[in-house]
Amino acid sequence: MKALEKYKLGNIELKNRLVMSPMCMYSAKDDGKANDFHFTHYETRAIGGVGLIIVEATAVMPNGRISDQDLGIWNDEQIEGLKEITSRIKKHGARAGIQIAHAGRKSEATKTTPIAPSAIKFSDDYRMPQVLDENQIQQVIQAFVEGAKRAVRAGFDYIEIHGAHGYLNHEFLSQVTNQREDQFGGSLENRCRLLNWIIDQVKAAIPEHVALGLRVSASDYMVGGIDGDEMVRIIDQVKGKLDIIHTSSGGLAPVSMQVYPGYQIRFAEQIKHECQVATIAVGLITSIEMIEEIINNNRCDLIALGRLLLRDPYFPLKMYQQAGILEGIPKAYKRGFY
Ligand SMILES: Cc1cc2nc3c(=O)[nH]c(=O)nc-3n(C[C@H](O)[C@H](O)[C@H](O)COP(=O)(O)O)c2cc1C
Repeated sequence: MKALEKYKLGNIELKNRLVMSPMCMYSAKDDGKANDFHFTHYETRAIGGVGLIIVEATAVMPNGRISDQDLGIWNDEQIEGLKEITSRIKKHGARAGIQIAHAGRKSEATKTTPIAPSAIKFSDDYRMPQVLDENQIQQVIQAFVEGAKRAVRAGFDYIEIHGAHGYLNHEFLSQVTNQREDQFGGSLENRCRLLNWIIDQVKAAIPEHVALGLRVSASDYMVGGIDGDEMVRIIDQVKGKLDIIHTSSGGLAPVSMQVYPGYQIRFAEQIKHECQVATIAVGLITSIEMIEEIINNNRCDLIALGRLLLRDPYFPLKMYQQAGILEGIPKAYKRGFY
């Protein structure tokens, strides 16, 4: 089964092509530190056989939290808990990744003010964001750099910059949310500038053995927003510095989107082939047959599983069982599978 073969992501080797998608657990306290719940949650999925675990969106600034319960990576005290997560993941042969994030105008953290490229609310239920000036933009870039350095100190093998789901980086990329008239708005090149600078500086700050990726929303599902073709042009601007593109969609505005099995695979496929980069496909991929179809048809390089791993942490072990690969099952669990 090709999905269970090793894969080289940048300079790291994954034992298979299965990835745990980043999923906020809203289980931290005000201090943003990881706790027992996170340790158990991530270690369980590592025992479950997935090759790469991407820890949930972790805020690089206090005002970058989606909620008051998000994990944080904006100070050194937060490193210890994250280190415990990486050591628990790695001792079972999985690789540890983390998504570093800023929620922008979608932050609902109660003690801070949301920020954004332009003064446009997400919806009437959200606060009006404060518009970033150029100095503040530099502070955001620095926060991503410091967050990435802390991720390295915590032992992560893969860092994913969150550029999707209507959060700060995505807000700069899309014309719908970016109405700036300075060097960060207008043309596609200008709208990519913040992301480009973040990627450049993060890349320069992390060692070569740590892989770097970007999660994007390849469609805003609205007129005037990003679509697959525009995302191809965006990725063309940044791809030289990245090891993989994780292709999600939506989240920029409260619009309805059609969700069906494999609904985002076409974006991973388009970006892989048109930009000639490695991609991760994600979104309602729920069976071994689907995974085999996607990987064997070369539609993407890695498969991310989200909700499936919430309800079935041992799903990858069932794949090893079906493929007859005994060594993929942890010794202590073999009796459960054979
Ligand atoms: C509880 C939950 C939390 C999520 N948190 C994040 C997150 O922190 N970062 C992110 O990029 N996507 C997040 N997502 C989206 C998932 O990573 C994934 O892309 C989405 O659930 C679709 O994949 P699935 O159908 O396999 O679940 C979250 C999804 C869920 C269900």
